[in-house]
Amino acid sequence: MAVLITGIGELTTNDPELGRLTEAALVLDGSRVAWAGPAASAPDADERVDVEGRAVLPGWVDSHTHLVFAGDRTAEFEARMAGKPYTAGGIATTVGATREASDEQLAANLRRHVGEAARQGTTCLETKTGYGLTVADEARSARIAGEVADEVTFLGAHLVPPGADAESYVDLVCGEMLDAVAGSVRWADVFCETGAFDEAQSARVLKAAAGRGLGLRVHGNQLGEGPGVRLAVELGAASVDHCTYLSDADVEALAAAETVATLLPACDLSTRQPLAPARRLLDAGATVALASNANPGSSYTTSMAFCVATAVLQMRMTIEEAVWAATAGGAKALRRTDVGVLRPGARADVHVLDAPSVTHLAYRPGVPLTRAVWRAGVRVAG
Ligand code: NIG
Repeated sequence: MAVLITGIGELTTNDPELGRLTEAALVLDGSRVAWAGPAASAPDADERVDVEGRAVLPGWVDSHTHLVFAGDRTAEFEARMAGKPYTAGGIATTVGATREASDEQLAANLRRHVGEAARQGTTCLETKTGYGLTVADEARSARIAGEVADEVTFLGAHLVPPGADAESYVDLVCGEMLDAVAGSVRWADVFCETGAFDEAQSARVLKAAAGRGLGLRVHGNQLGEGPGVRLAVELGAASVDHCTYLSDADVEALAAAETVATLLPACDLSTRQPLAPARRLLDAGATVALASNANPGSSYTTSMAFCVATAVLQMRMTIEEAVWAATAGGAKALRRTDVGVLRPGARADVHVLDAPSVTHLAYRPGVPLTRAVWRAGVRVAG
């Protein structure tokens, strides 16, 4: 069945030819966009929805979350707000709770958060393993994630489990663990940071994953400068995520590479780190994505609108750059061409704002502006 969405006051397509249109319309046919253009020349459809002058944009593409988890870290958050620094060690708390949880509890928690994200306009979401850290627990996390999320990443190399020897654990990740998850994930990631995995260990994990045909992503430069960005670029990773502390050489490397710099402003705020240097990256010519990093420790939010508002208000991104980074940028970080864009043939992932323009996302920060959402042509909100 074809649906004509008309009365669009401002249509952000992210398509270089279509650009941003006023007085526009869209036709969705099944799970795909069939037509986009001026309302005056829109074709007929079976159903008509008039959005009465509101802004329409592609659904958010949240390319970085950690939502296969159980438990709660409110106490750690409170301690941080009282002045304790964020360290990777808190991950172990969630690992304990996740191992204790049943499959049903993990799946229900994941669905609850993905639903929460969808009601705020997120229509394509990546999530990771990484709170299991045994072969069996990582394999079940990958399986559960695959039942719910659009994209699944193996993050067995999130933390060396307490009590384990780092080199032996990396052997396990590169061997038995990778074998157990390879069939259910598209991506592999490593937390390349002091307190997690060093450069040599990270390179071992990434090369083993690439050898099994997985695409690469890296958590890098979150808590200080380090080798994460360089390694990601050298190994052709699709994305290096966090990028909070960057040397000039890191910025230059990203500007010259296909690797997307995925910035996670909600995490920087929640861990009281400086905000990632978006302007330096953009001015140098790097490709920037914005993602929520939704997880129970360092960034417990699914709000991409919050990330966009922060990027504009505090990181000096323009509204156009921030909206692009949270839609097309996320798609690029996931190497997808069917999402983050509204053009004929794209997935019908449509976000209607209760506002006349995307500028209101930063102009009215914190206000729930999502009016309606279609995901793959199915109305999931509004
Ligand atoms: O992206 N950096 C490592 N992993 C997560 C944190 C997860 C946690 O604290 O539970 C992150 O911030």
